[in-house]
Amino acid sequence: MSTPTPQQGNTHDLVIRGGTVATATETLQADVGITGGKVAALGKDLSGKRVIDAAGKLVLPGGIDSHVHIEQLSSFGIPCADDFYSGTVSAAFGGTTTIMPFCAQHREDALDKVLASYSASAKAKAVIDYGFHLIIANPNDKTLDTDLPAAIGQGIRSFKIFMTYDRMRLSDEQILDVMSVARRDGALLMVHAENHGIISWLAGKMVKQGNVAPRYHAICHTRSSEAEAINRIITLAEVVDCPILIVHVSTVEGIETIRQAQARGVKVFAETCPQYLFLTAKDIDRPGVLGAAFCCSPPPRDEAAQEACWQGLKDGTLTVYSSDHAPYKMDASGKLPNGDKTTFKEMANGVPGIELRLPLLFTFGYKAGRISINEFVALTSARHAQTYGLYPQKGTIAVGSDADIAIWDPEKKVTVSKDLVHDNTGYTPYEGRELTGWPVTVLSRGDVIVEGGKLAAERGRGRFLPRAASEPLRPLGRQIPEMAQLSAWNTPLKP
Ligand code: URP
Ligand code: ZN
Ligand code: ZN
Repeated sequence: MSTPTPQQGNTHDLVIRGGTVATATETLQADVGITGGKVAALGKDLSGKRVIDAAGKLVLPGGIDSHVHIEQLSSFGIPCADDFYSGTVSAAFGGTTTIMPFCAQHREDALDKVLASYSASAKAKAVIDYGFHLIIANPNDKTLDTDLPAAIGQGIRSFKIFMTYDRMRLSDEQILDVMSVARRDGALLMVHAENHGIISWLAGKMVKQGNVAPRYHAICHTRSSEAEAINRIITLAEVVDCPILIVHVSTVEGIETIRQAQARGVKVFAETCPQYLFLTAKDIDRPGVLGAAFCCSPPPRDEAAQEACWQGLKDGTLTVYSSDHAPYKMDASGKLPNGDKTTFKEMANGVPGIELRLPLLFTFGYKAGRISINEFVALTSARHAQTYGLYPQKGTIAVGSDADIAIWDPEKKVTVSKDLVHDNTGYTPYEGRELTGWPVTVLSRGDVIVEGGKLAAERGRGRFLPRAASEPLRPLGRQIPEMAQLSAWNTPLKP
């Protein structure tokens, strides 16, 4: 963002006038001139065909949510409540203008077909821009040799693997295979890091003794299961020199393990989510099956873990703050396939959060004085763009960037309720929370898509975002010495 200079006579398509503009690095009083969907000028007294008065408002880059599940089947085949229309509409109302959902391969699926199907659906329905990650559940020869390189070539430069869930998890050998492709072709490996053995052994014992209520979900997903898996995935990444990003980190121990790896120079990035800042395991402990609404993996923990997550976001150990929006209704179509007899093992994992991710952090982070407005922008937008290869097209307000902008009323009071949010889940884990600050006007590529509490966006206007190889994807060039014994290992990273 450059220092504003007086500019008169320049007529833009749209001017946002008189607001306080903040990016991840700067805050200043400036008008924002928008032409052709891009930020064309930052200055004083800009003129435009349309002018939005932003006096007293904060003008921020639209949020980027780099971890959302939309129109996806859970590992048990349970469908998400949101499609690409409802999911992106909900995102837009919460000030998010770019999402990065998963194209999820299940064991029996061909990856190229999975990608084609998600692409067609998003193209027809999304109201904001989107990039894709892949989920790899079957790293067979076709996946590794053909489909993954092809997807990376199309600008899908990140894929997630699971260390747990019977129907999704990969063995260490399979993980090394996927890491090798990611490293060679320039993609970021995202990891769901939990020790499968600990969780499934404990869960089996719990169910046998009749402990089936939702709260046993949190008990079985021990803190140690996250810490062990994080330590193991970092060890595997160091064997083959593959940058990784550990998603939805929730524990003191996991964060400390990541901090230590980063201190010795390993390229390990990490993410946390609203549920680990604003919920605890006590939320799951409710009568009957009500706690299912709060069951996600890993589960919310305790106050000490919440503090560790805040600290990790402050000191950069945790790179990004995403929603992990995983919307399942509290009925037989979603969380409760067997009604009130559903055991914690049968409940779809995940909580909704695509719309409230930013407002929650605005209130309890920025307004509470825990983070600055620039840190707010970094955590909700800029770092996502930088990590996943979208910067500076997205993630900032600078001349040449897409005009993806959320105008925040920093004093607007909002009480969270299920009727406030626009996703299809039918509940929110944050019911009753009092928020201060709300994104009252939202722009995507210069189009005003939310204004006065109303949507003004056409279904299908969102565009796919192919991504370039970003710095986080570049290997360190220091795999363990034993790797030198493998022929054809150091194949250079494709440009
Ligand atoms: O519980 C969660 N997080 N469900 C969504 C799928 C995943 O593991 O990210
Ligand atoms: Zn996960
Ligand atoms: Zn997820």
